[in-house]
Amino acid sequence: MARSVDVVVLGAGPGGYVCAIRLGQAGLKTLVIEREFLGGVCLNVGCIPSKALIHASKVYRKALDGAAIGIVAKDLTVDMAAMQAWKTGVTTKLSQGIGGLFKGNKVEHVIGTGKLAGPGKVEIALADGSVEVVETKSVVLATGSRPIQIPGFPFDNLQILDSTGALALSEIPGALAVIGGGVIGMEMADVYARLGSKVTVIEALDRILPTFDPDLARPVTMKQAKLGVKHLVATKALRQELTADGKIAIDLETTDKKGTTQSRLEVDKVLVSVGRRPSSHGIGLETVGITPDARGFVPVDRQMKTSAPGVYAIGDLVPGPMLAHKASKEGEIAAEVIAGHAAAFDSVCIPSVVYTDPEIATVGPMLFELEAQGRKIKVGKFQFAALGRAISSNATDGFARVVADADDGTILAVHIVGAEASELIAQSGLALEMSATAEDLALTIHAHPTMAEALAEAAHIVTGHPLHAMPTPAR
Ligand code: FAD
Ligand code: NAI
Repeated sequence: MARSVDVVVLGAGPGGYVCAIRLGQAGLKTLVIEREFLGGVCLNVGCIPSKALIHASKVYRKALDGAAIGIVAKDLTVDMAAMQAWKTGVTTKLSQGIGGLFKGNKVEHVIGTGKLAGPGKVEIALADGSVEVVETKSVVLATGSRPIQIPGFPFDNLQILDSTGALALSEIPGALAVIGGGVIGMEMADVYARLGSKVTVIEALDRILPTFDPDLARPVTMKQAKLGVKHLVATKALRQELTADGKIAIDLETTDKKGTTQSRLEVDKVLVSVGRRPSSHGIGLETVGITPDARGFVPVDRQMKTSAPGVYAIGDLVPGPMLAHKASKEGEIAAEVIAGHAAAFDSVCIPSVVYTDPEIATVGPMLFELEAQGRKIKVGKFQFAALGRAISSNATDGFARVVADADDGTILAVHIVGAEASELIAQSGLALEMSATAEDLALTIHAHPTMAEALAEAAHIVTGHPLHAMPTPAR
């Protein structure tokens, strides 16, 4: 007889596993089907391992560059095998933790590949070749996304790497090409440049991190340039071939105001990080009448409901930014809705962080987007170079910017580039959710000396009363 449950969750990434925990807490009989690893991309081959390598490579670089603050390290070396082993320990621990949370919340899970098999039915292909059919009242699709390949650069994860391959290197490449100067590209360029690789970033558009305001990306590219990273913008990687001495030669084409020029680059490894696409293929959408959009995303409403009754979808599989915290929030909402509670996605903002050096963290739209909308805004920008804590931490690159509505002072966006930006952004998210004004932020007492004071200072500039900046009118 087929197993029968209340809810099947397909995929155990930050969307699926959070959803399953909430469903378990609501007393619903929940089965998670995961084909590879608990925690999904984020925990195993994404957010967590990348942050582990970012941390480790920063520790190395800080020691190497410590002479200016009186720390002189001699004979410093990197043991890549040990670094990778530590990283794997981190991801294993967290993945096992999810298994524990499932048990604690009475969530069952099975390792296998699942797909919809018509209304109320899910098929699981198990490792032993058998197929199990499960009957269920609801299904949550949380199958995530996978990297996009470009013609002529097939992933082999030996020399032509996707992000998973780039996170698993057992040796530091002498020369690394990074195709795509977006979030993954810049984070990984940072890691390997810090560890000593000669990195070249190849970006098709005319600037690095093109979805961010140019002044947010600049401190990052400048810091990378100091490490010897070359940024080739408006450049396409046309083709590649293996050279006689085992290198990869890439033919490049750059188009700028001067015209089109061709060049060749020889490297040991290539990371292709040109975006990700939703994993909507092969999961039986057609058996319940769901049609993905042109880019492969599964359309959903604010309650994460698809067009098929009883079928929900969350995370990278659905439109919106491909971020772990967005996936988890959607997972919670889907679970609440299935449990019969009144819930819908109504967050004002989804924070976005790039873990480069310096970090970039934002809530709300970019300046260029607000300007394109014709919004009347006031902008306060405070440089970390004028902040006591930043100076005493040797971390003066960057700034904090508060953008408010010109008429009523409501904060519309906060942009930070600098040390600790990933942590600093949290209070700004709360400010936007609570419709705080720049004055509210300026009136809040911030501990001294902290990096967070930059936000209060930026808010003071918006209100026209700067304390540690010259009194120029907010733009
Ligand atoms: P996923 O995490 O992709 O999980 C989907 C799961 O479904 C996978 O485990 C997969 O094995 C499983 N699955 C797929 N198909 C099936 C099937 N048919 N049957 C059974 N199981 C199936 N986001 C951030 O917010 N912060 C970061 O710092 C960050 N860093 C990143 C770094 C890298 C290198 C990468 C690649 C991504 C990063 N992301 C980051 C993005 C983040 O990983 C994703 O947004 C997030 O993992 C999406 O969660 P999800 O649950 O939708 O899908
Ligand atoms: P991305 O969309 O951030 O960047 C891709 C870049 O590649 C863009 O700048 C694009 O213009 C460029 N590009 C596209 N085609 C190209 C080509 N043929 N040649 C050269 N350049 C090309 O995608 P990325 O970096 O792959 O990351 C995927 C997703 O993972 C992101 O959208 C993000 O949501 C998520 N992520 C989030 C992180 C975080 O929150 N810190 C970290 C890493 C990934």
